Amino acid sequence: MKRIAVIPGDGIGPEVVREAVRVLKHLGETTDLQLKFTDFDWGADKFLNEGVTLPEDALDMLSSDFDAILAGAFGDPRVPTNQHAEDILLGMRRGLDLYINLRPVRLLDERLTPLANRKTSDINFVVFRENTEGAYCAAGGFLKKGTADEVALQDEVNTRRGVERIILAAFEYARANGRKRVTMADKSNVQRFGGDLWQRVFKEIAATYPDIEANHQYVDAMAMFMVLNPEQYEVIVSNNLFGDILTDLGAAIQGGLGLAASGNIHPGKVSLFEPVHGSAPPLAGKGIANPIGAILTSAMMLEYLGFQKLSDEIEEAVRGAVSANETTRDLGGELSTEQAGSAIIARLKQ
Ligand code: NAD
Ligand code: IPM
Ligand code: MN
Repeated sequence: MKRIAVIPGDGIGPEVVREAVRVLKHLGETTDLQLKFTDFDWGADKFLNEGVTLPEDALDMLSSDFDAILAGAFGDPRVPTNQHAEDILLGMRRGLDLYINLRPVRLLDERLTPLANRKTSDINFVVFRENTEGAYCAAGGFLKKGTADEVALQDEVNTRRGVERIILAAFEYARANGRKRVTMADKSNVQRFGGDLWQRVFKEIAATYPDIEANHQYVDAMAMFMVLNPEQYEVIVSNNLFGDILTDLGAAIQGGLGLAASGNIHPGKVSLFEPVHGSAPPLAGKGIANPIGAILTSAMMLEYLGFQKLSDEIEEAVRGAVSANETTRDLGGELSTEQAGSAIIARLKQ
């Protein structure tokens, strides 16, 4: 029995997570998969009503009582500071030390990519995004705030330990999964200090993986090449901020944000799985959000929990639904979020 904490969150989060949980429950009824779900109402409503973001005992409770966390999205126009999302999402990523943000970029069907003349095999890579430091540490401050002489400092944290473990994870993944190349993206031509550390650590670690080609690109060039020559990428490793930006671009070339899945992982510890997309306020409450990102996220979670075969079956069902145009309107289909979820469930073995 695996214990799953479900945190639907804001906007379209609850709508897409509902479908992901339906898929998992279906597998629970038709296979020997045993999952126990516990819902948590953390998000904008709770913050606005009770002033609570991430409850005080949450991290301990998640670590001791759960095997994995399935989340939707956090972000709400009524909370312009984004404080609750920072406390809940970044709080879990940092507080549970989920240092790997694993974001696969895979083209499931040729018709999905906006790039011309691309086969599914041309777009098939994974991004290892550093997930606990970088520009995401709220390091900095104001001087003379509100005056004409105001200074805003926004710092970035790069620790040797942090850089080492994400680069190592990328090379280990490559070796374990038959990938032949790891490409690091940085901006070391400008960011002298952090960039220098990343460069040195990358070279040191690459030297211990002679079977894997170590490649480097400046992140601006990578953004271009991801559109022009995505077939060159197998494993990408980058820092927190660049990884965030590159994976929205990665989502776009695989067919859109509605399809992209991710895991926030610390191997061996309780880990957090969430779609790459956010709460998409313009879509919220309309029942039109694409649930595939969340459903593929649940497949990543199953893989993490050791159910590789069931994870593959979910992916196969998604592929089938996509080829049959049983999709939401962002992919050109006509289905609602719930109907799109049902179409995928119908393709799983009964
Ligand atoms: P977003 O990812 O929410 O949406 C951008 C656009 O992508 C949407 O308007 C929509 O056109 C499309 N889209 C996203 N998900 C989709 C889906 N499932 N189906 C169909 N189309 C989809 O990004 P945003 O608009 O920049 O951010 C909205 C809020 O979400 C902000 O508060 C932001 O901070 C937050 N956010 C949260 C997370 C997270 O919790 N992991 C991730 C990204 C953004
Ligand atoms: C993501 C989101 C988050 C991030 C925001 C909501 C803090 O964009 O998960 O990709 O920047 O990491
Ligand atoms: Mn993002």
